[in-house]
Amino acid sequence: MARRPLIAGNWKMHKTVAESVELVQKLRESLSSVADRDILVAPPFTVLAVVAEVLKGSQITVGAQNMNDNVQGAFTGEVSGALLKDVGCSHVILGHSERRQYYGETDALVNKKLKLALDVGLTPIVCVGELLREREEGKTFTVIEKQVKESLGGLAPIQANKVVVAYEPVWAIGTGKTATPAQAQEVHSFIRKWIERLYGEPVASAVRILYGGSVKPDNMDSLMAEADIDGGLVGGASLKAEDFTRIVRYQAVLSARAR
Ligand code: 13P
Repeated sequence: MARRPLIAGNWKMHKTVAESVELVQKLRESLSSVADRDILVAPPFTVLAVVAEVLKGSQITVGAQNMNDNVQGAFTGEVSGALLKDVGCSHVILGHSERRQYYGETDALVNKKLKLALDVGLTPIVCVGELLREREEGKTFTVIEKQVKESLGGLAPIQANKVVVAYEPVWAIGTGKTATPAQAQEVHSFIRKWIERLYGEPVASAVRILYGGSVKPDNMDSLMAEADIDGGLVGGASLKAEDFTRIVRYQAVLSARAR
């Protein structure tokens, strides 16, 4: 079954209002003819509304990088899913490794956010990935299995269908060390098997699994040629219009994906 690719830019804590507007105006133009894949930008909270405004009527959608695990209330400094919807977000990234590492986010918390995101109609992009130490100790699959079961568990199959998963090996994030296409494919196919165990084959074959970690213009083509890699979650290279444009316009060996 062919899955529609999704290429997402995670801007992390970068870009002022002026810089954001400039970047998305360029992307709107450079990607206007792309019709066969989904494109998303995930800027900081402060520019979501202005970015959504600039992108209105284009095929580029907007997502947030995090959301709170409560519906609303006295949670100073936090942002709910409903508020993200209100400014024009369609997606939200959850459980990014930087949130897990620096802000102590657990699988249980990510799972709670996931359910709330689905409740308000946001498409969650749930991140999983092993640390370098864990890979070196041969624990990659144990770690991924736990993250998939605990972060993604407890949904109705109809909800699970809508979830996007991102495999981001922590050792590949911001390091310039990309996983090889074969290394990524091995984990992607493992994640898909676990989704099948949790939710059945139709859901597993519909769910998109993105790869993230030093995705660049010169490695996207080979990553996208792998059967279970359905797109990219791009950090540093999504901050430059030319690089992100080239990544979105990857030229995979499409016959490998069309199975
Ligand atoms: P880099 O592309 O900068 O390695 O970041 C990847 C990432 O964390 C995307 O969410």
